[in-house]
Amino acid sequence: MTITAIVGTQFGDEGKGHVVDFLAQQADLVVRFQGGDNAGHTIVNGHGKFALHMIPSGIFYPETTCLIGTGTVVNPDGLISELDMLHAAGVKTDKLFLSDRAQMVMPYHGLLDEIEEEARGGAAIGTTMRGIGPAYADKAARTGLRLGDLNHPDWLQRRLQTALRRVNRMLAYWGATELELEPLLDKCTQWAAQLCERIIDPLPLMRNAVETNSNVLLEGQLGVMRDLDWGTYPYVTSSNPTAAFAAVGAGLPPQAIERVVGVAKAYATAVGAGPFPAELHDKTGERLREIGKEYGATTGRPRRTGWFDAVAVQHAAWLNGLTGLSMTKLDVLDSFAEIKVCTAYRLPDGSVIDYVPDTAVLEGITPIMETHPGWQSPTTGARAWDDLPDAAKRYLERLQELVGVSVELVSVGPGRDEIFTV
Ligand code: GDP
Ligand code: IMO
Ligand code: MG
Repeated sequence: MTITAIVGTQFGDEGKGHVVDFLAQQADLVVRFQGGDNAGHTIVNGHGKFALHMIPSGIFYPETTCLIGTGTVVNPDGLISELDMLHAAGVKTDKLFLSDRAQMVMPYHGLLDEIEEEARGGAAIGTTMRGIGPAYADKAARTGLRLGDLNHPDWLQRRLQTALRRVNRMLAYWGATELELEPLLDKCTQWAAQLCERIIDPLPLMRNAVETNSNVLLEGQLGVMRDLDWGTYPYVTSSNPTAAFAAVGAGLPPQAIERVVGVAKAYATAVGAGPFPAELHDKTGERLREIGKEYGATTGRPRRTGWFDAVAVQHAAWLNGLTGLSMTKLDVLDSFAEIKVCTAYRLPDGSVIDYVPDTAVLEGITPIMETHPGWQSPTTGARAWDDLPDAAKRYLERLQELVGVSVELVSVGPGRDEIFTV
């Protein structure tokens, strides 16, 4: 048995969905532990191509149980559409369960996300507008509604009345129309009818998985540079995509997590505002975007592109306790004559640091880059380490040396067979 967390080591979109879909071949249980439908996890397999937003990437294996965990925020309408999309493709979802403690993203959270982003003006975060920040804010303010509340109509009504008092104060402050209780209660009744059978207390499931030595995958969303505490605050999401939170978000004791796989692209991308140290603003950056098809799976926004930032990934290695790296999209670099890597940051006073400082400092750094020769030959057909060109092997060896973590998986294409264990 192994309990493995799979986490993003950069700014999200590292290929976590692809890696989870690959590792889930041997999984009994896959749990999404944080975030909401701000996620876009792309999976290409025998069923087709899918962008999953909420449902764990283990859903394509009919024997695998999937759980949307307590640490998430769930938009029930979005979840129901995602279920419909999977059913239309012939994918079975009868083993998908929802934690009764997971928070609900209510229609007013999306509204507040839009209003607050607009009010930030030039300091906007560039959120996905999915209501994620306001939903986690309500959770922390203790005015959130949870999926389990759907099964208790009287309790739900009281909770919604309390929530609306706060929401309507905020809407009035922003000059927006206040909301009525009844239409929201009706919405909840519809959600309850469609979702109630999937809503469970997740702890018996989690305890049973540990006691029966099951193989469990804990699927993260986003990456450490957008972690609420350790990312480029305030240009972050409103939860912790790091492995320590996987224990909270899934409902496990921390020491149960034995393996932590950090997913890293062989270069880097980001969506949204804020410092991105190794960003490219030139033709090379555009080439990375075009070859890598770097457009958001959730919002369709063009992703910012840059070189691999070993300082940032080492930050991820420490915070997550990474036991292995999964390097994705190596094939995107196949045609580049030169490939650069950021190895340290230079501060305005000329001194050099090898760690990620707080955002106000990070904004002023200049990345220190080292240059590697490209391999200029295709890697897509590689199915083992020895199939890789020598320059690609040297590049990956240098990355693992800089980050201090071994590469255990290499991905050379989006398909289920285009990934191999080292
Ligand atoms: P996630 O959010 O971390 O799951 O990543 P996304 O799905 O948002 O973005 C990764 C994108 O790269 C998706 O379109 C994947 O299909 C694709 N992808 C994943 N691994 C590879 C790879 O090794 N090579 C190529 N060319 N594409 C990949
Ligand atoms: P996956 O799981 C990339 C970014 C947004 C914004 C910031 C806050 O596919 O890697 P939010 O809507 O969460 O309040 O936005 O986080 N962001 C993502 N960027 N991939 C994601 O998910 C993201 N989820 C949120 O662009 O900068
Ligand atoms: Mg994504």
